[in-house]
Amino acid sequence: MATRDSWVSNLGFVLAAVGSAAGLGNIWRFPWLTAENGGSAFLVMYLLLIIGVGVPGLLAEFVLGRRGKQTPTGALRSLIGSPEGPALGSFNVVTTIVMLSFYSVVGGWILRYTLVSPVGAYFGQPAQYFGQMSYGLQAVGFHLAFLAIIAAIVFFGVSRGIERVSKVMLPAVVVLLIGLAAWTMTQPDTAAGYAFYLGFDGEYLAANFVSILGPAAGQALFTLSLGAGAMLTYASYLEDDASLPRATLVIAISNTVIGVLAGLIVIPLLFSQGIDPGQGGPGALFVALASVFGSLPGGAVVATVFFATVLLAAVTSGISLLETPVATLVDEYGVSRRRATVGVSLLIAVTGGGLALASSVFRFVSGPLVDIMLSVGLFAFLAIAGWILRTEAIEEFSAGAGRLDALATPWVMTVSWVLPVVVLFSLLSTFTSLAG
Ligand code: PHE
Repeated sequence: MATRDSWVSNLGFVLAAVGSAAGLGNIWRFPWLTAENGGSAFLVMYLLLIIGVGVPGLLAEFVLGRRGKQTPTGALRSLIGSPEGPALGSFNVVTTIVMLSFYSVVGGWILRYTLVSPVGAYFGQPAQYFGQMSYGLQAVGFHLAFLAIIAAIVFFGVSRGIERVSKVMLPAVVVLLIGLAAWTMTQPDTAAGYAFYLGFDGEYLAANFVSILGPAAGQALFTLSLGAGAMLTYASYLEDDASLPRATLVIAISNTVIGVLAGLIVIPLLFSQGIDPGQGGPGALFVALASVFGSLPGGAVVATVFFATVLLAAVTSGISLLETPVATLVDEYGVSRRRATVGVSLLIAVTGGGLALASSVFRFVSGPLVDIMLSVGLFAFLAIAGWILRTEAIEEFSAGAGRLDALATPWVMTVSWVLPVVVLFSLLSTFTSLAG
């Protein structure tokens, strides 16, 4: 077998991993969930879960990837043996395919909004515009275009494709978001939005603690790309002496900053136009934001910059979802990367195309199904790192960890005892909300 591709530098890995984490989850899902769940109360809960669950959980996934040095199927086979390992790994591969199928449809919407924003095509009737383009043949077309963009990157491999692109796109996303947040501060009537988002409301938090916990935990997993096997795959290209705890902290902090920045743009803007962002779900946010841009002076320019930023963020996440099944074909079956990329992309062209035609299936897949699959995947990683391979996990944690090494035991205890309970709880709350 040819030598495996790898990151040129650890920084490249960190940028690619932040690129995977920072995506539609931060800019589209996070502000909308925050608005729907009490603003600052949700923000606080989310931050606690990122620190308490996201960081240790991500470390568990990284540990398995670097130790296994393969994509999920091969890594878990070599770590825990057959047939459990390959079965779990295949579950990860299916997860990434399901996720990319819906992600690419939303990516297609964003691509379209980026292209039509300069002329303000949706300014007149934002709701009708969104309604007409979001499902149906046009949506299929833009889904295919988005998919083609990420396929073109994955085609060139880890160092020449993913790493190179992430190094440019991710910093661009951060700079653009800072610019947009600064611009938002200059807009009138935003005070109520900032207060809602940043003013801590302890009473609301206490009263709604349990009902916020489920969505906040789901968002913490989604935004850190946890439980899909994509981060495991990225870590498999990493050198043995890179400090995993340090990389994890940097990734989690950067991703959180990007999410909070997005909230600083979206929430005040919606409030400034008297729109209650908690009403009506993810599509509504799209529509509401579009009508905000439509009514502001210079709105077309800002809208273009905004959607282009979201597009870049979505691309760097989409490539991590595509890389997992592609690299599995390469590692496991010796298929060439180019063929694997074309093959998997054709499959997702079909599955995503189907979702773009069926809005009710789309809603189920993009919401509860993804939450469930990520929780199940993460639960398995936790069980393996915390229980089955505890000694190896600690070793992997400590390699190159420097002073953070002192945290190895508390980390493994958290992974073994605390996290599984939180993940099960979040799974349960997804099921109850499905039943309700
Ligand atoms: N973290 C990405 C986002 O927030 C989504 C994602 C999840 C990507 C899982 C890869 C794996 O948009």
